[in-house]
Amino acid sequence: MTAQLIDGNALSKQLRAQVAADTAALKAQGLTPGLAVVLVGDNPASQVYVRNKVKACEEAGLHSVLEKYEATMSEADLLARVTALNNDSSIHGILVQLPLPAHIDAQKVIEAISPAKDVDGFHMASAGALMTGMPGFWPCTPYGCMKMLESIGYNLTGKHAVVIGRSNIVGKPMALMLLQQNATVTICHSGTQDLKAMTLQADVIVAAVGKRNVLTADMVKPGAVVLDVGMNRNDEGKLCGDVDFDGVKEVASYITPVPGGVGPMTITMLLVNTLESAQRALSDTH
Ligand code: GUN
Repeated sequence: MTAQLIDGNALSKQLRAQVAADTAALKAQGLTPGLAVVLVGDNPASQVYVRNKVKACEEAGLHSVLEKYEATMSEADLLARVTALNNDSSIHGILVQLPLPAHIDAQKVIEAISPAKDVDGFHMASAGALMTGMPGFWPCTPYGCMKMLESIGYNLTGKHAVVIGRSNIVGKPMALMLLQQNATVTICHSGTQDLKAMTLQADVIVAAVGKRNVLTADMVKPGAVVLDVGMNRNDEGKLCGDVDFDGVKEVASYITPVPGGVGPMTITMLLVNTLESAQRALSDTH
C-alpha cells in the first residue's frame, strides 16, 4: 500500500483563506485582530519563525507587531513589555518566541501573559482549560494535527492513538485532544520499554520527539494514520521528520510529509487562535 499524503500546505491555504475572510468581516465591524510577537536575542531559527508568523498575519489581513530585543534584556523588562501588551486593546494575541535566553525564566514570562491573549496556549490556564474541556486556547501544533485528521474525515472514537513524545507543547496537549475525541490514548516517551509493541497497536501515531527514524515501517500497523511533528536534518542537511517516510508510507493509509506537513499548520492555527481571541473580545463588548 502507498499512503495518501495529508498536505499541510494545501490545508493551510484553505484555512488561511477562511481566516482572511473572517478577518475582513471583523474589520467591517471596526475591529482588526492583532498579534504581538516578541523575540529576545538572535537565535537564527527563531528569527525565521517570527518572520514567518508576521508574514502570515499580513497575508491574512491581521495586524501584527514584531518586538525584537537584545539577548541581554532583563527579565523584569520583558515582564513589563508583556504587561503593556496585556493592556493594549489593539493586541489580541501575545506570543513570546521560545527559547528565551538562560537568565530569563520562560515559565514566569508565559504565566505573565493574559490567558485571554495566550494564543500559543502555553499558559497554565490554557493547559487547564484543555484538560477540563473549558474554552481556552489550544497549542497550535497539536491543534493543527487535529485539523489534519478532521480534513481526512477521520473519526477517532474507539481508535487507539499512540503519541510518541510528552512535551508540554506537543505530546501532552496532543494526547488530551485525542482523548477529547474519544480515542484510547497511549503516551510513549524515552522511558517506554517496548515502543514497537505500542505503535503496532495504533490506528493513529503522532511522532513528536525531535529525532530521526523514531518510527520505521516495521513499527506501523498496515492502514494506520501517521502524523510527523519532527523537524530534523538528515546527513545531507535536508529537512526531515521523526518518521522514516519512505518506509512508513508503504504501510500507512495516510501520512504527513516533512516539509509541507504539520509545519505550516502551526502558524495557521496561530492565526486561527488570534482571530478567535479578537472575536471573543468583540463579543465581550457587545
Ligand atoms: N519555539 C518553537 N516553537 C514555538 C512556538 O510554537 N511558540 C513559541 N512561542 N515559541 C516556539
